[in-house]
Amino acid sequence: MKTTLLIKNAGQVVTSRGASDKPLTGAGLGKVTVIENGAVAIGSDKILAVGSTPEVLKKITPARGMQEVDAAGKVVLPGLVDPHTHVVFGGSREHELSLKLQGVPYLEILARGGGILSSVEATRAASKEELVQSGIEYCRQMLAQGTTTAEAKSGYGLSTAAELKTLEAVRDVGRSQPLDLVPTFLGAHAVPKEYKEEPDRYVDLIIEEMLPQVVEQNLACFCDVFCEEGVFSVEQSRKVLEAAREKGLGLKMHADEIAPLGGAELAAELGAVSADHLLVISDQGIEKMASAGVIGVILPGTTFYLCEDHYAPARRMIEAGVSLALATDFNPGSSPNNNLQLIINIACLYLRMTPPEVINAITINAAHALGREKEVGSLEEGKKADLTLFDAPNYEYLAYRYGSNLISSVVKNGELVVEVE
Ligand code: NIG
Ligand code: FE
Repeated sequence: MKTTLLIKNAGQVVTSRGASDKPLTGAGLGKVTVIENGAVAIGSDKILAVGSTPEVLKKITPARGMQEVDAAGKVVLPGLVDPHTHVVFGGSREHELSLKLQGVPYLEILARGGGILSSVEATRAASKEELVQSGIEYCRQMLAQGTTTAEAKSGYGLSTAAELKTLEAVRDVGRSQPLDLVPTFLGAHAVPKEYKEEPDRYVDLIIEEMLPQVVEQNLACFCDVFCEEGVFSVEQSRKVLEAAREKGLGLKMHADEIAPLGGAELAAELGAVSADHLLVISDQGIEKMASAGVIGVILPGTTFYLCEDHYAPARRMIEAGVSLALATDFNPGSSPNNNLQLIINIACLYLRMTPPEVINAITINAAHALGREKEVGSLEEGKKADLTLFDAPNYEYLAYRYGSNLISSVVKNGELVVEVE
């Protein structure tokens, strides 16, 4: 195969390679392979070679009209992977900020019919086309900040029609712009107001009506549940997730975020791919996730935005052998941020993760959390040509500078889709 795009002379190429079979844990999570004066050769939409610039130049056969990017003074990483987002929703919730500043807790706003439920109203009122338009715009922002693959959950519809509309919108957003979306069905995100008095009937509706149609129409890869006090109990979560597993979906959970209900233990028992949030995970939950190989997806941007007084115990989890990934949790309420670069900073400062751990957690381990580890998440021959180029002298600089978009270029499927002058 001839080279169609050559990235050369990079200050550093950071590969996250060698972990496409199993997610990184423990000491392995803290190591990255760095190639100084690096190059990446791309043929069509695949990576052909990664190495030092002289090595790669020796190997390649240029295609006619091969594009070349001089990456001197830049750091090259795999395209970033955001394994937990709610990117398709109607409306926005800036009006809740003042309630929050008055000290009204997140779950109290939800109990009053606001929070998630106010986004449900806006999402139900929006047409599919409107959801697609806003989804495309959010994805454009994410791509410009270096994210090339992201999860996209439903969960602001909460009726069969509105959940299907959301997942169809996710599919259409994925087809309309370069960022790849991995769809997750989150019918169990909240109990809608029409089922307030009989939440178990809503659980039945999810299992008997929504799930079969979602699967039949091939609209989701994963099923997720918000297992939380006042939302879905461990028993209700188990019912939904068992039904989803039976239908062949991978499992995810919003677990142990605010009240320690034992969501991590349930995720381990059911063989979930990931359990997410985990601020109040128990020691037993940590042990069980480590032995069952459930990936912990930590969402420190949400902790920051909810002004929680403590973050998920990332260091204890790493020491216990849990594989960690990091995500934005982009959503209209608890985390209106879709920039993974900010997550790099918050994870280093408040989760006390090192820059190599953070890079692996937003590349290869994040790809594992989406079941896309064979295609994306590292710079290796044969993988999809998804790359980010940052204006930075070394990768640690990304953890040091915060609040700026350091992207200089993004390559998606072998094409330069973002170029900052
Ligand atoms: O992951 N925790 C539950 N769901 C979202 C928040 C949704 C919202 O507030 O709209 C989350 O944080
Ligand atoms: Fe979430």
